[in-house]
Amino acid sequence: MSPPPAATGGLSRDHDPRPDGGQNHDPRQGDRKPTVWSGGSDKSGGLPTGAQTDGSKDGPRLEDATVIDHRSLAPGVFRLRLAAPQIAARAQPGQFVHLRPPGPGPYPLRRPLGFYAADPDSGLVELVYQVVGRGTAALSQVAQGRISLLGPLGRGWRPPDALGRALLVGGGLGVVPLVPLAAQLVRDGRFEVEVVLGARSVAGLIGRDDLTALLGAERVHLVTDDGALGPAQPVTVPAARLLAAGGWDYVATCGPEAMQRLVAQAAEAAGAACEVSLERPMGCGLGVCLSCVVQTDRGRQRACVEGPVWPSRQVVWQ
Ligand SMILES: Cc1cc2nc3c(=O)[nH]c(=O)nc-3n(C[C@H](O)[C@H](O)[C@H](O)COP(=O)(O)OP(=O)(O)OC[C@H]3O[C@@H](n4cnc5c(N)ncnc54)[C@H](O)[C@@H]3O)c2cc1C
Ligand code: FES
Repeated sequence: MSPPPAATGGLSRDHDPRPDGGQNHDPRQGDRKPTVWSGGSDKSGGLPTGAQTDGSKDGPRLEDATVIDHRSLAPGVFRLRLAAPQIAARAQPGQFVHLRPPGPGPYPLRRPLGFYAADPDSGLVELVYQVVGRGTAALSQVAQGRISLLGPLGRGWRPPDALGRALLVGGGLGVVPLVPLAAQLVRDGRFEVEVVLGARSVAGLIGRDDLTALLGAERVHLVTDDGALGPAQPVTVPAARLLAAGGWDYVATCGPEAMQRLVAQAAEAAGAACEVSLERPMGCGLGVCLSCVVQTDRGRQRACVEGPVWPSRQVVWQ
């Protein structure tokens, strides 16, 4: 079924990115396959190549996804692989699903989680999430069965069309939407891609193995708050150093908002087009409740419809 169309609520829809414990819940599946991202590269708002001629395939879907694999990546961090062919066929890097946490209790509100990977050929999507409250805690207990997903939602990354160099900067679980973006940029072949990842400790450097496999270790810069890999620094320090050296055309960042703001400032000073991905608590996910608004230079916009990705220059930082 298709959800109702998103209400506009008088808010701007413009979006111009240009410059201006090791627990495996389902051991039947064995070792994981490499992370893939095979979604289309069109910038039209979301349809992979091959689906655009069929208007009925447009828009998000409500889909009961089957749990294929669910395992812990680090304390309190889980990777959930789901069979959700309708959503996998439409997902774009930077978009998200609204997931209904399962369990006996009443969980009226869905929870937004970004795509870590999606593959229209296999129909699989991967989510990586941290347990922070009751919804994600309930989700972490799921071993098998079905989970209701609504998606893909929102507007994802829209890198410039030009050739160039791209720097992706992730803080903590902010790496999630950057992994499929890196895969797409590599597949498109227009950008040389490097990544800076920061976390409190080495265990929190989620995605490092996938990104290293994709880009090579020399293009994946790692930093931790505890200094386990060198100087104890926030991710903004090596990111600013790389950006100050110049030569970057596109920067994408996700993580704590204060971190994204610093990265955006450094990117803008370096003359690179920069996009940020902003999290807001979400109610409906469909543009109706206005719980997710972000202040922009075009007025208040909804993270679930006009976002969660914005050109950094459009964001009015609070
Ligand atoms: C577009 C989008 C994509 C996201 N992608 C991911 C992802 O890939 N992986 C991941 O681990 N998390 C992601 N999040 C955050 C995730 O949605 C929240 O952590 C989750 O909804 C918390 O649900 P809960 O029931 O466990 O916690 P709750 O009991 O609802 O809340 C626990 C704590 O988390 C805070 N919180 C709840 N929702 C959010 C939110 N949306 N943003 C910031 N703080 C919140 C609450 O204020 C509270 O302090 C994303 C959020 C958005 C908006
Ligand atoms: S308008 Fe309801 S979550 Fe965005």
